[in-house]
Amino acid sequence: VRPTILVTQRIADVAYPRLEQVGIVESATAEESIWSHAELLRRGPSHTYLLSTPVDSIDEAFLKACIAQQPALQLVANMAVGYNNIDVAAATRLGIIITNTPGVLSDTTADLAFGLLLATARRMGEAERFLRAGRFVGIRPQLLCGADVHHATLGIIGAGRIGLTMARRASGFDMKILYYNRQRLAQEQEQLYHLTYTPFQELLQQADFVSLHLPYSATSHHLIGEQQLALMKPTGILINTARGPLVDEKALVKALKQGVIAGAGLDVFEHEPAVEPDLLAMENVVLLPHVGSATQETRTRMALMACDNIIAHTQGERPPNIVNPEVLI
Ligand code: GLV
Ligand code: GLV
Repeated sequence: VRPTILVTQRIADVAYPRLEQVGIVESATAEESIWSHAELLRRGPSHTYLLSTPVDSIDEAFLKACIAQQPALQLVANMAVGYNNIDVAAATRLGIIITNTPGVLSDTTADLAFGLLLATARRMGEAERFLRAGRFVGIRPQLLCGADVHHATLGIIGAGRIGLTMARRASGFDMKILYYNRQRLAQEQEQLYHLTYTPFQELLQQADFVSLHLPYSATSHHLIGEQQLALMKPTGILINTARGPLVDEKALVKALKQGVIAGAGLDVFEHEPAVEPDLLAMENVVLLPHVGSATQETRTRMALMACDNIIAHTQGERPPNIVNPEVLI
C-alpha cells in the first residue's frame, strides 16, 4: 500500500510532485487558516508521514493519537531548524522519527538578524514611520540619530551555524565580536570567525549588541530576564531571531521602558502570534513576524529538504536529518 503524507500548510509547489511519487498526499491549502490543535488531532491520525511547521504543536497526546490508528505515524519532517514545537522525547518513546532542516537557512536567517540589528541601531522603522506621517521637512542635525554599528561590539550567544554566519556579517562591519557558547569552540574556529570567547555575564556587560542564536529548550527558557538585562549597557540593544521564550518578554518591556537598555530588534515572541501590547507602542523596537528564513529560495530548499527526509524513509534509507537518532536503536 502507498503511504499517505499529510502536509499541514501549503509549501513550495515543486515539493508536491516529489511527494506524490512516493505516496498519497493530503495538504492544507494556502487559503486555510493555521490548524488549531483540535484540527491537527482531527486530521493528523492515519497518515504515515507528517510534514509540519513550527506553528504545529506536536505533543504527546497528538503523537499517541497518530499511532493509535492505522497506518501508524512513522516520521514527522519539521520544516524548520528548530523543533521545540515537538515533544521529541515522547516521539522517541513512541518510535517516531523526527527530522529538521538545518544548514539551508543559516545565511538567510543571519541576513535577517543583521538587518534587524542595523534597523534597530539606525532607527529605520521609526524613521520610516516619521516619513510616511509627512513629517520629513529636510535634514535636521539632531533628528533620528541612532547608534553606529561599525566598530561596535557584538555579543553572539550561541555559536552554531547561524551564530557563526552572523559573525561573518559582523566582520564586514569591522565589529569586535564576542561569543558565548555552552561549549567553547576550537581555537582555529575562533580565529577563522574573529571571535573572542567571553563568559555569559561579561558578554552582556561588554556588548553594544547582544544577538541570540541558540535553540530553545527547558534549559534555555528565559535565558535573558530582568537580571541579565540589568547587566547590559544602557545603550545596549537586544536582537532575537531565535525563539521568543529565550527572553522574558515582560522583563524586556520593563527594561525598555525604564531605559535599562536602549532598544530591541525582535523577529520572535514569547507567545506567538501574540506580542506584548506595550512593545507595539514603543518607538525603540523593531518588530517582525518570524520571517528569519522567509526568502523564496530558502523556503523552497527547506520544503525540499523536509520531503527528502520522508522520501528516504519510504525507500528504506536513513533520513538525512534525524534529530532523535536513538529512535533507530
Ligand atoms: C524557524 O523558526 C526555524 O526554526 O527554522
Ligand atoms: C542552525 O542552523 C544552528 O545550528 O545555528
